[in-house]
Amino acid sequence: MPENALTVTDNRTGKTYTVPITNNTVHAMDFRQIRVDPDEFGMMTYDPAFTNTASCQSQITVVDGDKGILRYRGYDIAELAENCNYLQVAYLLIHGELPSHQEEKEWNHQLCIRMGIFENIKKFMEGFRYDAHPMGILVSTVAALSTFYPDSKNVRDPETRKNVIYRLIGKMPIIAAYAYRHRKGLPYVYPEPELSYTANFMNMLWQSSELKYLTSPVLEHALDVLFILHADHEQSCSTHAMRSVGSAEADPFLATAAAASALAGPLHGGANEEVLAMLTRIGSKDNVAEYVKGVKEGKYRLMGFGHRVYKNYDPRARIMKRVAEEVFQVTGRNPKIDIAMELEKIALSDEYFITRKLYPNVEFYSGVIYEAMGFDTEMFTVLFAIPRTAGWLAQWQEVISDSEQKICRPRQVYTGPGLRHLKKIRAASVEPAGVYRKAG
Ligand code: CMC
Repeated sequence: MPENALTVTDNRTGKTYTVPITNNTVHAMDFRQIRVDPDEFGMMTYDPAFTNTASCQSQITVVDGDKGILRYRGYDIAELAENCNYLQVAYLLIHGELPSHQEEKEWNHQLCIRMGIFENIKKFMEGFRYDAHPMGILVSTVAALSTFYPDSKNVRDPETRKNVIYRLIGKMPIIAAYAYRHRKGLPYVYPEPELSYTANFMNMLWQSSELKYLTSPVLEHALDVLFILHADHEQSCSTHAMRSVGSAEADPFLATAAAASALAGPLHGGANEEVLAMLTRIGSKDNVAEYVKGVKEGKYRLMGFGHRVYKNYDPRARIMKRVAEEVFQVTGRNPKIDIAMELEKIALSDEYFITRKLYPNVEFYSGVIYEAMGFDTEMFTVLFAIPRTAGWLAQWQEVISDSEQKICRPRQVYTGPGLRHLKKIRAASVEPAGVYRKAG
């Protein structure tokens, strides 16, 4: 009997099947051979929300949820956050290795020359209402870019893919900054190529009458670290959207818009906004115990807590806590951090959270940092989308180049009615043509 295999007996027929095991995984298609009747479709696996299904092989990011480990291309997240800047990490995700000095210069140059956007795109953005949510603006504008670069649909051409990657990583901060300034009714600020990626973004957000908005190096570095922490997270909901839409060979601007849409959900990237709303609602450390009681009674979720993969402390949350202290040295302490820390303390010693292995995730502390730095809550998820673009694109490249991949198309278990026939129905009366109702 082969050692690296599963032996499955179908009790309906008494037949035994051998299913090979590779990387601790069995191939779902190997189950198709299991059937009672030769005319049957065959056995499928059922896994709503993919809780135990690997949909791809990947060499980019690994999360060990039980041990609380996150690595990009083999490097530990803490080591990267300590020693690299965001653009070096983005290069690592896309190319598999950190850049040499010369490669870094070229990478920065290529991104820099693609940082601008067409004036028509500015006009397009001006069409949004004054209070439009910046994530809605970002998603729509990224999708609109597809119409400016029709060549981007040649996804099988490596040169096109390279250009699209430069364009998307280069343009994301400018779109995000314009979405922000649009809400404020402020004129758009053009990129400053000699500034760093994060300093340039901050300048486009906050420049007013001065020639250049010079931020504190501590805040610039803090934002850069936050970008590194958010750059990729293997098969998250938005990454799956990127891969799935990309697998249909839709152009990468459209696939990125789909990924950003998934990110906007409160259970995913939108959680940072929800955490801040929750901390505001709680209001003071004294109300924390009562709030936790409500969570346990199922009245609400503790936002920023829990993760599909981490069943241990999210390593990014640990780094976030340290960054928060550094930021507060410059901005002054955001009092919401004390509520957050009290929440963490109570939750981590409570049976409800212990048994379910619920720990703070990356978004638990990010919001208090962003708020201290002067960002509006509505911008929080946008701040997640900017750096995650590198991760999405790395994953998109992988899906396009993987010979095992095809268009993503899951199966279903149909539980609806069997064949039935229409009864004769009488048409509803319609008003005669030419008679219109008045708008109500
Ligand atoms: N507060 C209270 N209870 C929770 C929470 C929470 N935040 N998260 C999970 N649970 C409970 C849940 O009620 C369930 O309990 P029971 O077994 O009694 O029904 C159990 O824990 C398992 O939860 P689940 O919903 O099956 O877990 P999931 O893997 O489907 O959900 C999650 C993962 C992140 C959607 C969820 O933990 C959650 O809603 N957290 C709050 C939102 C949040 O912070 N999201 C950001 C995630 S990190 C950023 C990113 O990478 O997306």
